[in-house]
Amino acid sequence: MASPANAPVTPLDFARWKPQGRKISVLTAYDFPTARLLDAAGVDCLLVGDSLGTVVQGHDTTLRVTLDQMVYHAEMVARAAKRALVVADLPFGSYQASPAQALITATRFLKETQCQAVKLEGGVRSAATIHTLVEAGIPVMGHVGLTPQSVRRLGGHKVQRDGDAILADAHAVADAGAFALVLECIPSDVAARVTAELAIPTIGIGAGAKCDGQVLVVNDLLGLFEDFQPRFVRRYAALGDTIRQAAAAYVSDVAAGRFPSEGESFH
Ligand code: KIV
Repeated sequence: MASPANAPVTPLDFARWKPQGRKISVLTAYDFPTARLLDAAGVDCLLVGDSLGTVVQGHDTTLRVTLDQMVYHAEMVARAAKRALVVADLPFGSYQASPAQALITATRFLKETQCQAVKLEGGVRSAATIHTLVEAGIPVMGHVGLTPQSVRRLGGHKVQRDGDAILADAHAVADAGAFALVLECIPSDVAARVTAELAIPTIGIGAGAKCDGQVLVVNDLLGLFEDFQPRFVRRYAALGDTIRQAAAAYVSDVAAGRFPSEGESFH
């Protein structure tokens, strides 16, 4: 049965949309005001990604992001979202030790924030963990291909080209009960094959147009992260320029005594 257009999105909608060919839009979000804007714009899913380690905290990798930091950001984003499904990333070190550790971590997100699902990295190696969370009633989004928390083992943020391994990982995630799967930085033909073979929707980033949905890091989309532009990023705005111009205009107005005006002062 169709839900009203502005009804909150749930993992069941993801399952419904795939056979309809209805593409799914996902963006990362890390704070309340941005999440509110993205939600109002109709983004289907807000991912509180551990990419906050790079685009918000200024680190080279996601490895230093802590569980407390993720819970802090997930709480703000989930409180802002009225319609979008909010998914929180389990950060490095908070779930790899055992399914039991993952369950304790994921439970924190659902108790301390209003997020509805969690995401974790890894295919075959994470299948038992995904199964445990799903059995406990926690919707899980998987993530295979380039898994940034393994950047040290992978030797950098590189395109992953082992199609057989990616297919095995994708099937393991789906069989374990995940409701969706992020495919990061893999060849388009491999992503198309995974998408055709899985019953759950694939959400691509650097994985071509054949995925069931797309995800981008919001700072990349808005032109707020300018250190480099990965090939798969499309910038829809240049907010870095806008912020620099606004701040420079303010500096010049203050220096010249043009700010504040009479109308901006109390009498
Ligand atoms: O942390 C993140 O933002 C992500 C997306 C890039 C999929 O995992």
